[in-house]
Amino acid sequence: MELRIEPAQGFKGEVNVPGDKSISHRAAMLGAMAEGTTEIRGFLRGADCLSTIRCLQQLGVEFRGVEDGPITVYGRELDGLQEPAGVLDCGNSGTTMRLLLGMLAGLRGYAVLAGDASLQRRPMGRVVKPLREMGAAIWGRQGGTLAPLSVQWGNPRPIHYRSPVASAQAKSAVLLAGLHSPGKTSVTEPSSSRDHTERMLEAFGAKVHIENLTVSVAGQTPLTGRKVEVPGDISSAAFFLVAGSIVPGAEILLKGVGVNPTRTGILEVLRSMGADIQLLEQREAAGEPVADLLVKHQPLRGVTVGGDMIPRLIDEVPALAVAAAAAQGTTVIRDATELRVKESDRISAIVRELSRMGADVEELPDGLVIQGGRQLKGATCCSYDDHRMAMALAVAGLVARGETRISDAECIRVSFPDFPQVLTELQR
Ligand code: S3P
Repeated sequence: MELRIEPAQGFKGEVNVPGDKSISHRAAMLGAMAEGTTEIRGFLRGADCLSTIRCLQQLGVEFRGVEDGPITVYGRELDGLQEPAGVLDCGNSGTTMRLLLGMLAGLRGYAVLAGDASLQRRPMGRVVKPLREMGAAIWGRQGGTLAPLSVQWGNPRPIHYRSPVASAQAKSAVLLAGLHSPGKTSVTEPSSSRDHTERMLEAFGAKVHIENLTVSVAGQTPLTGRKVEVPGDISSAAFFLVAGSIVPGAEILLKGVGVNPTRTGILEVLRSMGADIQLLEQREAAGEPVADLLVKHQPLRGVTVGGDMIPRLIDEVPALAVAAAAAQGTTVIRDATELRVKESDRISAIVRELSRMGADVEELPDGLVIQGGRQLKGATCCSYDDHRMAMALAVAGLVARGETRISDAECIRVSFPDFPQVLTELQR
């Protein structure tokens, strides 16, 4: 699919932001390991979370309502997963593959996990290493650091793991394996990554302890199924926060967005660039803070971002780069080497595609330098089969002169299947 974007004449309206991808994965997985049923409202029916559901079904977990409305998960308790007959296809989803590897500590059997071309390039050593320490036998390409992977757990044992990267996926894989281990399993990170696993484990009745950068979970405590209301995904909202800031005259209300402090880096950085973003109707849903976000057009200025801020906005950097290209002055993004191992190498993808549109972007080993303020021009761009690249380029197209075409844009279905329609409606 090719996505065509015309310069926006106006940009106004309300958006019901689709469910949070990270929280949707976790709700399905914890529901699968819980006693009783779990009812999930607002589950993101994007390709990644549907990959998780399909893998769980292959492990014997029953779901109702996958097509429409609330989804019910029939929990199989901690040790009730069945050996899958076929390969578990994780599609494009790093979260599915990495978290499942840990969760499979509850499986007395053998499983093979594969993914698409992008997922099979992504580093798995960061989960394979600690999980091997915990008793998993894992095989795969390059010494087990690249998928396809196969796994056969022995008796899981608790560890204290010092993760070299701030990665919620690595942390969560170890914590999920820890649920099946006797005693306490803990993970220390170099800086805080998103904490949805910890929050949801607590809500399901696990014993979780958090001290500074260390999270521990007590093993072999049963989880209890419950109702989960998934908030809107701030990573999806980010495209509209940027579009609303840079399209002249724009005013957008984003409804029901998760504002967990481990995810709100984009709000803080856009505000420090001068963006006009208000948090309205602040509330809580299933242990997660939620708000409506009102964004109004406002000229932006360049900013420097790095350090502990990076894990708090890692998925929003493609959108932030577009804001930086539209801002006056220089933006520097550093300490973001992780961007090179996302669905695409986002540092080089941003440099190539925004340069094609006339932006002044320089590549750093760990980030970007963007001299903002140049008039962007429409171009034919490549998504690298990366949903967030496709949507960021679409936002850039709103303020470019002439038409922007984004090839291979069907990857948008990974996290925001209705994005093209929502974008069109806001321009009416
Ligand atoms: C995610 C964690 C982040 C993020 C990804 C989703 C999660 O990845 O980039 O989109 O759901 O745990 P890392 O944990 O690899 O940083």
